[in-house]
Amino acid sequence: METYDGAPEPGGAPALSDAPLPTAEEANPEHAAKDRPAEDQTVTEAAADEPVVEQPVKLLPVAELHLHIEGTLEPELIFALAERNGIELPYADLDELRARYEFTDLQSFLDLYYANMAVLQTEQDFADMTRAYLERAAAAGVRHAEIMMDPQAHVSRGIPLETCVNGVASVLANSLAEFGVSTLLIAAFLRDLSEESALGVLEQLLAMNAPIAGIGLDSAEVGNPPAKFERLFARAKEAGLHRIAHAGEEGPPSYIIDALELLDVERIDHGIRCMEDPDLVEHLVAERVPLTVCPLSNVRLRAVDTLAEHPLPAMLAAGLNVSVNSDDPAYFGGYVDDNFVQLQTVLGLSEFDRVRLASNSIRSSFADDERKTELLAELGYS
Ligand code: ADE
Ligand code: ZN
Repeated sequence: METYDGAPEPGGAPALSDAPLPTAEEANPEHAAKDRPAEDQTVTEAAADEPVVEQPVKLLPVAELHLHIEGTLEPELIFALAERNGIELPYADLDELRARYEFTDLQSFLDLYYANMAVLQTEQDFADMTRAYLERAAAAGVRHAEIMMDPQAHVSRGIPLETCVNGVASVLANSLAEFGVSTLLIAAFLRDLSEESALGVLEQLLAMNAPIAGIGLDSAEVGNPPAKFERLFARAKEAGLHRIAHAGEEGPPSYIIDALELLDVERIDHGIRCMEDPDLVEHLVAERVPLTVCPLSNVRLRAVDTLAEHPLPAMLAAGLNVSVNSDDPAYFGGYVDDNFVQLQTVLGLSEFDRVRLASNSIRSSFADDERKTELLAELGYS
């Protein structure tokens, strides 16, 4: 076996978390191509004012580290669940719903995202949503997914915690056998609610032995800084849970610093605004802090004006540990594969960088070492 820097390491397992980035030869995309899990894709669409570009895009095995399961509710499923549950939607048809997917900022999206959750009523609803995501994710090359759900958004509208947790978890339990995707569940807490509310739900999750691997922090960022949730994250750490937080999506770079220092998070969701603070970038590079970047989300929520101006290439060039994720794919124009296709088409992202992003995602996951080794081998590291 070889280590990632090419040095022979007889019989030894590769170091997974602190491994240096591969050189172009080590990344060896040709080799990696031979056992790719999913069909290659072809780019057939471009922005309305640009010519259609056709180029083959090879799907890489990736870990999806930033995904809100409620953000995978496709319009068709929203209507199907509404009908099944006798819920009247405030949209006459799919077109009228889709017409609402023009967001001006994070809050304008969150308003629709929370409203559409009304169709999730039963365990079966949560299970159907989860199954639909896994099927689509597997086709996108996702081989491991760490899935956030927002329990407070359901409990607050009268859905029992057991209903949402069990509905999602029942599908995740068989995800590897059914879809070839290993999964972990992360309970995300809404930062625009109180810390008391979050602590109450976390205690309930612990008491019911919910199969959660960690906690996250999401929803309206600005005005709800990490400092508000110090006790929540201390309790999660005490309970042996992983910790992640959205920071630096719309909020300032100081929220990223505070999430690391005050909440002791292991990954930052988004983190793109770190680029405004060179000292912070230096720190994130030195510590190899994972940043789960979501390019199409950032464009749709106007965190960046256009994909062409997205900081991902600069983040890669700075040596940051970035991965590509879909966030709320049903709302933002695509899944992980769509993000990669757009990055290649619009930003000219090289195969070398795509392999680097894929390996970053696997190494930054909370999967066990055996699974990471397996997925890195699929990517061409052996
Ligand atoms: N909840 C779902 N998607 C989110 C996002 N992009 N930012 C913050 N909270 C979210
Ligand atoms: Zn998110």
